[in-house]
Amino acid sequence: MMMIKIKPLVLLLLLSCTWVLTVATSDSAYPTISDCGMEELVPVRREVYGNGRIFDISHRFREDMPSWDSGDGLGQFLRLRHSIKNGSLTNVSELRYFSVHSGTHVDAPGHVFDHYFDAGFDVDTLDLELLNGPALLVDVPRDKNITAEVMKSLNIPKGIRRVIFRTLNTDRRLMWEKEFDTSFAGLMKDGAEWLVENTDIKLIDPTSKDLVLNGNDQ
Ligand SMILES: *[C@@H]1O[C@H](CO)[C@@H](O)[C@H](O)[C@H]1NC(C)=O
Ligand SMILES: *[C@@H]1O[C@H](CO)[C@@H](O)[C@H](O)[C@H]1NC(C)=O
Ligand SMILES: *[C@@H]1O[C@H](CO)[C@@H](O)[C@H](O)[C@H]1NC(C)=O
Repeated sequence: MMMIKIKPLVLLLLLSCTWVLTVATSDSAYPTISDCGMEELVPVRREVYGNGRIFDISHRFREDMPSWDSGDGLGQFLRLRHSIKNGSLTNVSELRYFSVHSGTHVDAPGHVFDHYFDAGFDVDTLDLELLNGPALLVDVPRDKNITAEVMKSLNIPKGIRRVIFRTLNTDRRLMWEKEFDTSFAGLMKDGAEWLVENTDIKLIDPTSKDLVLNGNDQ
């Protein structure tokens, strides 16, 4: 009985070692593992893919990441429900209650418009064509919020659909402060109105926190 149970497991382990070795030699995206976990494994978290074709600008969720209006950060949002060390076949983590308005995220249309919320306009309804593609990175003046006047001075060419604003928030490392700081630099109402009326921008990252879609496009 025991043999029957063990054999498939051994086979599985052998197969996964072969697989890891094969992949390691053929693709630099995977960590090089010269044997079956005898060396220290170091996770590789890449931010740039394809020589700059894709930049991962998401912040990893951390317990001490700022959370809207909170002094205590995000708190414990992840725990291990099943653990290999405790005899389970797999590690299975569990996400616990935390605001989806946390970390790097996209605001759904229903976030600020109640009639959209009632009609079910959640993030699933957003257009992936709009969310993916070339973006213009713009350094904005560090001594101002993004007002209409600032927007105008940036001279963002027509035809640009996606922009990322690099603001004082990044310099101040606000995403690394546990306590939520209400003085973050952001896109002001008149700046947003100017953007809608005078540019082709449909996707913006105004604070390094929220990605915002220009609702007029939908
Ligand atoms: C598996 O669970 C152990 C704790 O039993 C943990 O230390 C380890 O990081 C987990 N591995 C993965 C890949 O989640
Ligand atoms: C493993 O089990 C022990 C005893 O039940 C428990 O205290 C511990 O939290 C468990 N650890 C994990 C990572 O599940
Ligand atoms: C941006 O506006 C906030 C209030 O919303 C303010 O606290 C902050 O000082 C302003 N930032 C700059 C650079 O003017």
